[in-house]
Amino acid sequence: QDASLREDVKARLRDVPDFPKPGILFKDVTPVLADPHLFRRVVDAMAAPFQGQRIHRVVGVEARGFLLGAPIAMALHAGFVPARKPGKLPWRTRTERYALEYGEDGLQIHEDAMGPEDRVLIVDDLLATGGTAQAASRLVTQLGAQVVGFSFLISLDFLPGRQRLGADKVCALLSY
Ligand code: PRP
Repeated sequence: QDASLREDVKARLRDVPDFPKPGILFKDVTPVLADPHLFRRVVDAMAAPFQGQRIHRVVGVEARGFLLGAPIAMALHAGFVPARKPGKLPWRTRTERYALEYGEDGLQIHEDAMGPEDRVLIVDDLLATGGTAQAASRLVTQLGAQVVGFSFLISLDFLPGRQRLGADKVCALLSY
């Protein structure tokens, strides 16, 4: 059933060459989201490994992590917490910086979004170098909560993201 889901997702993902920069082959997930039946199957499959694991919060990483993280939170009967680019959240925040190929970026979370009693799942569309997800994980740890795992739609396994996050904590529907 997962194998047929993987085939259906692969058939719907759109490869866009040279976006957002020359040399990058962008995996566009919007056709997957636009298909009502496939979207639901993807959400259920990304939530499945964490059913029964007492997840209290799902952290979705801006921006495509919001689109998958919110319905996954509902499937797990968990709350949803956005991890946003700096300057977007209105309340008091915690910040983590991470390195990009050139320069650095940051993620922020509201400081009252979770606490030491909370078990947390981090969700995003894509795992590449792992820098973004690792920053999200550090935000959760800053607030005293526990990162139970990570759920991605796609993992690029020729990059070190999976090892950086701890391979036993990472679930991905598709690997390249
Ligand atoms: C993409 C993707 C992840 C991140 C993965 O986001 O959605 O968040 O890159 O890369 P990494 O594993 O190397 O850190 P992008 O930077 O395109 O931001 P966006 O979702 O806001 O467009």
